Amino acid sequence: MNNKGALLKELFTNLSTTGAVTFSSKSLVNKMLSYADFKGAKLIVELGGGDGSITHGIVDRMDPDAVLLVFEINKPFCDNLKKIFPKKNVKIICDSAENIDQYLGGKKADLILSSLPLTLIPKPSREQIYKKCKENIVENGKVIQICYSYLLKFQFGRYFEEIKSHLMFKNFPPTFILVCEQ
Ligand SMILES: C[S@@+](CC[C@H](N)C(=O)[O-])C[C@H]1O[C@@H](n2cnc3c(N)ncnc32)[C@H](O)[C@@H]1O
Repeated sequence: MNNKGALLKELFTNLSTTGAVTFSSKSLVNKMLSYADFKGAKLIVELGGGDGSITHGIVDRMDPDAVLLVFEINKPFCDNLKKIFPKKNVKIICDSAENIDQYLGGKKADLILSSLPLTLIPKPSREQIYKKCKENIVENGKVIQICYSYLLKFQFGRYFEEIKSHLMFKNFPPTFILVCEQ
């Protein structure tokens, strides 16, 4: 799967797990990543790699010696991500975000960047994802989530002390960027 049309078809035909009819635009990715501090971030985690639109933005910004772990449950998306990011320090993990701790080797991430469709993920898994994000981020690290529902701010609020929300009207549908810190 190497063309945009096939990727969009995969996204659209798996709506219950992808939660979107289109991938993130470049302007949304730029805005989302503008809240992340890449300088000195050595371990970065992306949740919900999809077509790699956010992954590209991360790879362009991360330090050369940083490592990026990308979690994605859709096998065709994983295969495509492995093809387009053949770099040694970009690891595509075809597993659910709720298992991140199993791949961190006891380390904590400096940044977690997520486009997971959290409102569609069953509550027990979703709560595990929040919990694992909190447990596996460094003290001054940030978890940044893009989403369509402001209600997620309150769900993250049960795990993170400080949450700043930004609304991007320019995107369709308008998208919230939640920046969560402990
Ligand atoms: C809304 S799409 C975002 C894709 C892309 N990152 C973007 O911003 O356009 C969400 C992605 O999360 C993936 N996903 C859903 N549940 C997941 C989970 N529990 N763990 C990892 N990935 C998941 C879906 O397969 C889909 O590719």
